[in-house]
Amino acid sequence: MKTEIVDRLIQRINQKEVTVGVIGMGYVGLPLVLRFCEEDFRILGFDVDSKKVATLKKGKSYLKSIPSSRVSKFVRNGLLDVTDDFSRLCEPDCILICVPTPLTEKMEPDLQYIEKTTDAIQEHLQKGQLIVLESTSYPGTTEELILPRLESTGLRAGKDFFLGFSPEREDPGNKRFMTQQIPKVVAGVTPSCQKAAVSLYRQIIQKVIPVSSPRVAELTKLLENIYRSVNIALVNELKMLADRMGIDIWEVIEAASTKPFGFSPFYPGPGMGGHCIPIDPFYLSWKAKEYDFTTRFIQLAGEINVSIPYYVVSKVSDALNERGKSIRGAKTLILGVAYKKDVDDARESPALAIMDLLQKKGATILYHDPYIPVLPPFRKYLFKLKSSPLTERLLHRMDAVVVVTDHSQIDYPWVVKHGPLIIDTRNVTKNMKQWKKKIVKA
Ligand SMILES: NC(=O)c1ccc[n+]([C@@H]2O[C@H](COP(=O)([O-])OP(=O)(O)OC[C@H]3O[C@@H](n4cnc5c(N)ncnc54)[C@H](O)[C@@H]3O)[C@@H](O)[C@H]2O)c1
Repeated sequence: MKTEIVDRLIQRINQKEVTVGVIGMGYVGLPLVLRFCEEDFRILGFDVDSKKVATLKKGKSYLKSIPSSRVSKFVRNGLLDVTDDFSRLCEPDCILICVPTPLTEKMEPDLQYIEKTTDAIQEHLQKGQLIVLESTSYPGTTEELILPRLESTGLRAGKDFFLGFSPEREDPGNKRFMTQQIPKVVAGVTPSCQKAAVSLYRQIIQKVIPVSSPRVAELTKLLENIYRSVNIALVNELKMLADRMGIDIWEVIEAASTKPFGFSPFYPGPGMGGHCIPIDPFYLSWKAKEYDFTTRFIQLAGEINVSIPYYVVSKVSDALNERGKSIRGAKTLILGVAYKKDVDDARESPALAIMDLLQKKGATILYHDPYIPVLPPFRKYLFKLKSSPLTERLLHRMDAVVVVTDHSQIDYPWVVKHGPLIIDTRNVTKNMKQWKKKIVKA
């Protein structure tokens, strides 16, 4: 009996005979590559950034969360090859797309990376290949954007090639969950596409959750991020009210968290950061317009979260004012510019908005971040700044220190002891009652 193309592919996946191509060697793509290598799959990584390709080829990592030793062993044993030559897209049996999905200036989905990648795959599409999109996007991306382009080759999804969507749930810096322990939602555009994609992910992930369509999987990822965005906005709003009422919101959250059911704690901060939570919800609100639908929770959460850096700066200004100083000419140190603790990523970090606002009001800004020695150019901001060494002398010279990111390795009692005024957006000064007069929670 004739073996179907999909059965042959699954058989080869199960026997680890397939080569897996991963496009985009970033925070999502690289851990995925290494996970496949750990299971003895041959990998061909693709990236347009030839510097990243060259670094990986030398067996080195450029991500803090991934030591070079994890890369070098697979380069040495020949399992991992990396290239910027996209004509080699005909080589892998399975191709996973992990390219960026940012927003345009007008806060609309910027799909150029997915489009370019799809065009490159289309040009080299082979019978029997499995293609899976992992990048976060709105429901419909896989079936409306990728599928027609790939089928324009004359090959049919589910018969000649296989197409699916599986959202990434990577949490850089989280040591509690390794890639294989994070359940993975997987969908295909046809039943055989789903079968192929599920077979592949079962090789590297302990628990695979098949869902009925790519749209379900696409919206699942967005729900996860919108859930965080809305809940963070809620506590951020309550933080501002609690402040006016003279109540410590952190104490309130701690008390509410003792409820054993029906409450999940979310914590306020300096505003929302990272490449996912501030961005992904807008993919859905943009798509919703096509259905005459306004996603009000997303809009509201976005508005509140975007306003928080302004609130933090107003707290800096008030605190200086109380000390007879103005923000103009004030020397301010931003402590932590990464978007969250213990990571080396400052994309969309609220620190950038806070620094920009302080600078516009005439303050002098310096920053210290053990993970970000130099501030690269960002989507909206350009600061030509290097991390200043955190010394007693530096702290004495400042008028205010704004704790934006609560990196674990900073000695906060020492900072508070030597700093003149501490604006604390992360509750790092929780138990420092003796310094109460120079601490302002924001
Ligand atoms: N970083 C996370 O924690 C995380 C978590 C879940 C989902 N995601 C999603 O995963 C996707 C990738 O995010 P990331 O954080 O890994 O991004 P990243 O910027 O770290 O990596 C993307 C990589 O793709 C490369 N690239 C860009 N255009 C390309 C092209 N046309 N062909 C090949 N390579 C190309 C870039 O050079 C870069 O190395 C995004 O959709 C993001 O929303 C990210």
